[in-house]
Amino acid sequence: MSNEAILKIDGKEYTLPTMVGSEGEKAVDVRKLRTETGHICFDQGYGNTGSCESAITYLDGDNGILRHRGYPIEQLAAHSEFLETAYLIIYGELPNAKQRKTFSQLLRKNASIETQMQKIFEGFPKDAPPMAMLSSIVSSLAVHYSNLATNNFEKDLQNFDLAAAMAISKIRTIGAMIYRYQHGLPYVHPKDVPFCDNFLHMMFSEPYQEYVAVPEVSRALNLLLLLHADHEQNCSTSTVRMVGSSAANLFTSLSAGIAALSGPLHGGANAAVMHMLQSIHDEGDDGTRFIAAAKSGGKGNRLMGFGHAVYRNFDPRAKIIGDACEKVLAKLGIDDPLLAIAKNLEQAALKDDYFLSRKLYPNVDFYSGIIMRALGIPVNMFTVIFAIGRTPGWIANWREVAANPKGRIYRPRQIYVGPVKRDYVAIDQRA
Ligand code: ACO
Repeated sequence: MSNEAILKIDGKEYTLPTMVGSEGEKAVDVRKLRTETGHICFDQGYGNTGSCESAITYLDGDNGILRHRGYPIEQLAAHSEFLETAYLIIYGELPNAKQRKTFSQLLRKNASIETQMQKIFEGFPKDAPPMAMLSSIVSSLAVHYSNLATNNFEKDLQNFDLAAAMAISKIRTIGAMIYRYQHGLPYVHPKDVPFCDNFLHMMFSEPYQEYVAVPEVSRALNLLLLLHADHEQNCSTSTVRMVGSSAANLFTSLSAGIAALSGPLHGGANAAVMHMLQSIHDEGDDGTRFIAAAKSGGKGNRLMGFGHAVYRNFDPRAKIIGDACEKVLAKLGIDDPLLAIAKNLEQAALKDDYFLSRKLYPNVDFYSGIIMRALGIPVNMFTVIFAIGRTPGWIANWREVAANPKGRIYRPRQIYVGPVKRDYVAIDQRA
């Protein structure tokens, strides 16, 4: 089989090399296209563009496959837990017992937010969007820990283990503090307990009554975080890589990733799903109106939690989370009418030719909101939970960029469609 592609432009043939990934993914290498042919690739939204080589996550959207460092998401969801999967994603291998312990200890040691940083919270209105707060406060980590954030790849990589542990641990703590701040509650200091228990403790402990995590709640949160831990070159991860490619430090790059995640078409979808389900419930509708509106084609009417930029078959995370959702609610003895609405909506959409023909299936966000609601997490915090989960993936991707000796700054091209050259007109002569 030829490992070259032939491109014919204006009667002239050009030979381009091809590439094959470890799972057989194929690409035409166009790195020399512009210099050799004078053309660029036009690929709005980058849906057909491989922006990097990456050894972290393999995703086959047509067949609903997601693997981290080779391990199927189904196996990780069944047997691993969030921090172990985070370690795998960041360092490439499942940790042995000693590595797992050291990693955990480093996270526990770096969980708290110092007093000076706490003052930043007070600059925000109480009703500030949590993701905007999170992005700003994470950005300030680069100032408070400037020795770990020098904007020099070599130096920042020397301190990578500490910076990575800090990011995972502190983003979780900042998330809980945002909730406390918005509710006018005093901050709760982290304690020496497992990652998810600590988050729940910092969110829900009362001044004279410490929150004791129910095992089912901790497990559900752990699963949610694990399922969000990485997802190939999605919008926020690409953002982290793009910002990181300028040699920006890890914390600054993470802050940009959080900003990208905040949009309703990306991380904000889980909250949008809950608003949609709640409206259906409040109107006493069965979802018919939402389905009809979604089919009208307007972007603002989309059925939230449906469709995915890369999965064209099913989202394997949605399957896991859909099953978990029912079990968690049953274990907690919660009868949430929104779950019944979600299931009906899913059934109706999956029988509808509009959704079938466009290969639109529930994505991970369709059921994750119902679980979070059952855990007592308010809707405006959903995307923050997603960000806590996605942090290991962002970190691993930043590291790949920083450690790549052949890396270059991300700088796409464009097709200019504005006015052609024209001459300046003085203000008194303009129409
Ligand atoms: N509801 C109704 N129609 C939809 C939906 C939807 N949720 N998603 C896509 N479509 C339609 C589009 O209108 C388009 O129709 P057309 O061919 O008649 O023009 C067709 O399906 C293809 O859609 P694209 O725009 O090509 O899909 P794209 O890959 O660009 O978008 C996205 C993917 C953004 C996820 C989209 O499906 C969407 O907006 N979904 C709702 C938001 C959501 O749930 N986002 C979470 C994604 S998962 C995550 O970030 C963790």
